[in-house]
Amino acid sequence: MTAEHRRAVTLSRLREMKAQGEKIACLTAYDASFGRVLDDAGVDVILVGDSLGMVIQGHNTTVPVTMEDMVYHSQAVAKGNEAALLMVDMPFMACPTVDLALVNATRLMQEGGAQVVKLEGSGVQLEIVTELARRSIPVCAHLGLQPQSVHKIGGYRVQGRDSDAAKAMLDSAKALEAAGADLLLLECVPEALATEISKAVSVPVIGIGAGVNCDGQVLVLHDILGVTAGKVPKFSKNYMLGSESIAQAVGNYVTEVRAAAFPDEQHWFR
Ligand code: KIV
Repeated sequence: MTAEHRRAVTLSRLREMKAQGEKIACLTAYDASFGRVLDDAGVDVILVGDSLGMVIQGHNTTVPVTMEDMVYHSQAVAKGNEAALLMVDMPFMACPTVDLALVNATRLMQEGGAQVVKLEGSGVQLEIVTELARRSIPVCAHLGLQPQSVHKIGGYRVQGRDSDAAKAMLDSAKALEAAGADLLLLECVPEALATEISKAVSVPVIGIGAGVNCDGQVLVLHDILGVTAGKVPKFSKNYMLGSESIAQAVGNYVTEVRAAAFPDEQHWFR
C-alpha cells in the first residue's frame, strides 16, 4: 500500500495500537528518498535519529551531531514522507535548560517538520518533559542505553541488569509518563524488564534490543540494509538477505514487526 492510500499516523493511533495489541513499526531515515520508501512500506513512525552522526557523517558517536544537522535531515525526510509520524531526535546538549529545550524543540517542529521530539535521559529530563508537554509539544523519552552518554558510561552496554538499576528505570518510565511523555523508547534493556515497563505504562513503548513485548520496534535503517560499516549490533537484523530490493527489505521488516516475528531471542538481551 502506498502512503497516499493510508491515513496519517497520529499519537492517538499509536495509543489505539497499543490498546489493541497491534505492534508499531518504526525505522530511522535521514533523507527524502528513504523517507518515501519507508512511508510507502507502511512504517508507522519514521525516526530522524541522531544516529545520523554515525551512519551518515561517519563519526564514532552521536555526540558531534548539531541542531543544524537535525533540522536539515528532518526537513529532507519530511519532504519524502506523507503518512508516517515523524519523530526527530534532540541532539547532544540540545536540552541543557528548559528554555533551550523549548527553543530547540520548536525549531525541530517549525523548521524540521517534526511531529514528536525525542530526548535521551530521565532524572533531570523530567522537568524538561513536563514543560514541553505543558506546551503541547509531543515528546518521546529515551531510556536504557543513551548513546549521547557513551563517554560517561564508557561504552555501549545493556542497561538495567541489576535489580537497583531495573527498579530505577521502571520508576523513571512511570515518572516520565506522569510528566507528560507521549512515547517511551527503551534501548538495550533486558527483555523481562522491557516487558514489565511496557505493561506498567499506558503510553506506547518502542524497543530496540529490548525484546518482543514492547509495543513497537525501531532499528537503524543502515543496519537493516546491511550497509553499516563495522560491527552491527546484536539486536539488529539484515533484511536485505533474501530480499530483492530495498523496498522489499523494509516491507519484510514491517511484516515481521507486526507479526511479532521480530525480534526473536537472538536479537534481545536477558
Ligand atoms: O538515533 C537513533 O537512531 C536512535 C535509535 C537508535 C533509537 O535513537
